[in-house]
Parts: sequence; C-alpha cells; structure tokens
Amino acid sequence: MTVSKDQPIDIAEDTPVSPDNTPTIGDLISLRFSRRQVLRGSLAMAAVAAAFPRVGDSLATEQTSGSTAFSFTELANGSDENHHVADGYSADVLIRWGDAVVPGAPNFDPNAQTAVAQAQQFGYNNDFIGFIPLEGGVARGLLVINHEYTNDDLMFPQLAGAKSRADAVRDMPVDLIYASMQAHGGSVVEVKREADGRWAIVRDSKFNRRITATTPMKLSGPAAGHSRVKTGADPVGTNVFGMLNNCAGGVTPWGTWLTCEENFNYYFANSEAAAASPDAKQYERFGLPPKDFAYPWARADQRFDIGKEPNESNRFGWVVEIDPLNPDSVPVKRTALGRFKHEGAGNTINKDGRFIVYQGDDQRFEYIYKFVTEGKIDLTNAGANKDLLDRGTLFVARFDADGRGAWMPLVAGNEKLKDFASQADILIDVRLAADALGATRMDRPEDIEVNPKTGKVYALLTNNSKREADGDKGVNPANPRANNKFGHIIEMTPDDGDHAALGFAWDILVRCGDPKIADVGATFNPATSENGWFGMPDNCVIDADGRLWIATDGNSPSETGRGDGLYAMDTEGNARGTSKLFFRCPTGAELCGPCFSPDQETLFVSVQHPGDPEDGQKSTFANPTTRWPDFKDGMPPRPSVVAISRKGGGRIG
Ligand code: FEO
Ligand code: CA
Ligand code: CA
Ligand code: CA
Repeated sequence: MTVSKDQPIDIAEDTPVSPDNTPTIGDLISLRFSRRQVLRGSLAMAAVAAAFPRVGDSLATEQTSGSTAFSFTELANGSDENHHVADGYSADVLIRWGDAVVPGAPNFDPNAQTAVAQAQQFGYNNDFIGFIPLEGGVARGLLVINHEYTNDDLMFPQLAGAKSRADAVRDMPVDLIYASMQAHGGSVVEVKREADGRWAIVRDSKFNRRITATTPMKLSGPAAGHSRVKTGADPVGTNVFGMLNNCAGGVTPWGTWLTCEENFNYYFANSEAAAASPDAKQYERFGLPPKDFAYPWARADQRFDIGKEPNESNRFGWVVEIDPLNPDSVPVKRTALGRFKHEGAGNTINKDGRFIVYQGDDQRFEYIYKFVTEGKIDLTNAGANKDLLDRGTLFVARFDADGRGAWMPLVAGNEKLKDFASQADILIDVRLAADALGATRMDRPEDIEVNPKTGKVYALLTNNSKREADGDKGVNPANPRANNKFGHIIEMTPDDGDHAALGFAWDILVRCGDPKIADVGATFNPATSENGWFGMPDNCVIDADGRLWIATDGNSPSETGRGDGLYAMDTEGNARGTSKLFFRCPTGAELCGPCFSPDQETLFVSVQHPGDPEDGQKSTFANPTTRWPDFKDGMPPRPSVVAISRKGGGRIG
C-alpha cells in the first residue's frame, strides 16, 4: 500500500450545516409518482405504485443507535478472477459484450468480429444502466445502457503482440476501427422477469436497439446551428453522427434516457493543427487532442482530424436525450446543459415543477454544475416535455469555507463573461466560462444524485493525485486533502428544499481510504469494518430509504488491498458514514451503473473492463488476467451487466 506523505489538511470539513430543511420532498415524489401514472396511463395502478419510491414507506427497520440499517452479511474484500456477492444473494450475468441486441444479430465470434456484427450486438465497456418500466410494470421494462469506450487490444486477436495498448491502437487496421466505433454508444434492451425470479433479455423485442459512434443525431438548444458547430458535412450545424465515451447518465420522469459524453477528446487527432488554430486555448482546455493515449479514428474518418474539421469536436461533450420507447426516435444532443466531460445526469423535479439536472465534469480540478429548466414538467402529456431541456439556466458551484455554497449562472450578459460572444459560446466553452466566474475546482466530480428521501444531493469525487497543499492547485474547503488518492463524497442541502435556489449548505459525508492509516485521513463511521471501507467512489444509486449504493473505480490490490465493487452506506442517524461491501468485481474491472428494478428486488450493475491490466500485470487477448464471465479457452473477458437478487426474493439490502 502506498500512502501519501502529505499530511492531509483539515479545514472546514466539519463546518456545521443548516438543519434538515427539505420538508417538501414528499411533494416532489408524489408529483413524480402521479405524473408517471398519467404518462403511462396503461400501467396497472399496482405496477406504478411499486415502481417509484414512496414517502413514509421505509423499507428498513428503524435504525438503532450506531448500527447500520443494512441487514445483509458483508462480503469479504479481495480481488480474484470472478465476481462475488454477499451471502444470500445471486448475481447472474444478464448480457455480455457481443450478445445479440437487435433481433437477428449474428452470433459473437471474437476471432472474426466485424463492424456489421458489432452494430447489432451489445457494445463494449457497459457503464450507466437505466430502467424504464413497460406495461406490466415491475417485471417488464427497458434497460438503457451506455458503452463508454473500447479496450481494443483485449478485444481483437489481430492486435496481439503489440508492446502496449497505445501501440496496438496506433497500428489498428481500419476495419477494426470501424468495429470499435460500433462497440461505442449505447444499447436498449427489453428485459422481463421470469417465473423463477431471474431476468432475461426479450430477444425479439421491437425496442431493442443499438446506438453507436455513427448513429445520426440532432443538436438542439442554444448552440445548435451556431457557426462553431458547422462542418463540411453539416453546413447547417444541427446534424451529428454518433455519441462518444458515454459514461453515466440518467432517466427522466417522462421516460427518456440522458446519456452523457465524457472523454470525447480521446477520439480526435492533429496536435499541430490544434496548436496553430485561433481556437488553440479552447482545444487545450479539453485536451484536444490528448497528449498520451488517443484512438486512431482520424485514419478511418477525417472528421476526427482537427486540421480537416476544426469544429467537429465542438459537436461532442454533450448530454444526449434518447426516447427508448420510440425505437425510430433520433437522439438529441441538448446543448443548453453545457459541453464538458460529463459523468452523469442525476435529476429531480423541483417543488415548483421545474426539472433539475445535476452534473459532474470528471477531470481533475473541474466543476460541479446544475441545470434548471425554464419550463415546468407537464403532468398530463409526456410529449409536452420533448424540448424541456432546450431552455433553462446552467449554473456552476462555488463551495465556501463557512459550509455554504453558491450556484452561479452561466448566462450571457454577466460582466464576468463579456469575453464570450454569445450564449452558444458560453455553452461550447463552459469550462472557460466557469473559470471566469470563480467556481470551485473539484477532485474529479463523478456521479451526483438526489436523495429521494431527504432531498440532499450527493456528489462523488473520485480522487485527485495532482491536488497540492497550496497554490492554484491547492486544497480548498470542499477538497481538503493534498494528493487526494482515495476521493470523498460531498453532501449538498439546497436552501429551503428548493433545487433551483442559488444557495446551499454543504458537508463532507465521508473522506475515503484506509481508516487505519492516520495519514490518509479517512472519515468512515468507526462501525465500518476492514471489508467495508473503499477508495475512489464513482457511480451511485440511492435507494428508497435514502441510503447510498456506491460503485468504485480504481481500487486494486496495490492501491487499497481490494478490487472495485459496490458498497452500501447509511446517510442519516448514528450509522451515517458506515459502509458495507455488497458486491465485488473480477480482476481489472471497475463497477458502474448501479440501478434498481422498480420494486428494488433486483440491482443491475455494470462490470466494466474485466481483465484490464492493473498493478503492472500484463493482460492480453491471448493471455488475459481473467476470462470472466465465460471462462472458456479462447474467449476474451467480456464486459457485462449482472443482475443481483435476493435468494428467495425480497428487497435488496
Ligand atoms: Fe467514465 Fe468519470 O468515469
Ligand atoms: Ca469507466
Ligand atoms: Ca464513471
Ligand atoms: Ca471513474
């Protein structure tokens, strides 16, 4: 275990927050509840009732002093070639990279993968998972799943023998680049619960659909049609092909999927052209092109060459809204929500009916944002919400030392933003605009989720190895540890329970890492066991009891003595900050996308990049560190969605 020699600096972390002042969450939930009921008018009442969290319908026994409300027996930590779940639960692979999605898709053949086959099959590196109920409610729905990126050297036998992943990719044949493009994007699959309680893919469903790096999409909102999003192929500036590096996301109350483009810079090339461009400063702010690893896509499609299409990269880095209930719908990039390396789109309905989307920009020293719609959700007509995300205000967060915070609007007309010619320019270069407003530089904001029980908002900050003791990369009250290797979780309480308010109170729920090592400065509840602490929080789902289920990315035997997994954490009462290990990944994998079925009897999780080399191991197509989940000779490791249920049925946790 390597531990930072930097003594953690302890400032303002325990600043008292205002008392719990979110009494109207019941209104929010009943609003959401009743709207769903209206939108899905054909749903049986019982199905609707089971589908959404209900106030006053706590699933847990009352917490006793100092004890966790979670009843499961904690899993032992560690790392090996298989996945593991807590005793009394089953964890079954539901769908794997290469499995059929579109009816009639060819069988997966890892030795002869093609773009045509991949375009019909489940993509690589599944991340976000959302569940959208269909008629029949609890037992039938659509899973919407992101495919973030590819590890081409582990996917294609043709790339075996390269010295490194970067070498493998650099020399990749063009036909494999096309296959890799089709392994990106997302999948929609219909799922149903069988009589034995297990979930299965409905193979012939009309909803099953692949979205890839070449799917036609629209740009909408203030930046659509702007000169900086026009290209040779799209002189109008509203038609884009594909979405890139879709990491986490969200599901809206009107049944659409918000899928978020994260590290879109990795697909673009031509550093000379970028440096010589009048937009050099803007390119550099996004790492366009990246300095280290990059995908070789410009060899296959010149739009990824910054010298040939200088505006193409401005058409990526957005939140994409997709209507999975309409298989022919065209995905829409909603520019009003800003362009950055989006992690997710945790959301809630505000007490006044406006829709709120919380967003993290996942890079060291980047910011936390929220978007507040101008209009209110229409409870009677799903279609009336079609363009709700095109008009509203984007805010960026500042965290002050007194435990208060401010949401600062990124709106043209502000004197501090006078260098931006238009609202479109602010949204395209939102990081630069947020700099100008003096937003707080964070330790890599990943998921941000709203607690359905308390209305508090949780932001998971995964880590920041570049955080320094002082200077412009120095610690600040909300990011208090230099060389923050293990990350922390911030809790934000909106003023008056109003998610549109300009002010909020904040606190740190937990600083992560090994509590036994004083220099780490971890602050888990002391009731947390040796198995239960973790580093590098990433994705999160919050259950109907207001408890966090935290997926990690970056633990390894050398870093934390354990692999990545899913940890359950209490947020209130004496057990606040107590963490318990529930599920762990096979070697090399991170966990993403935790998502409950509407009745909370199944937890879907994404196992991403199994067999990725870690701790200096070598892992290749011919000799991977694991062949999870098939464990068959010649079959590479396959990123997969796993469905976790309680043996004999019942709520999870
Ligand atoms: Fe794709 Fe921020 O993880
Ligand atoms: Ca990931
Ligand atoms: Ca992530
Ligand atoms: Ca991550």
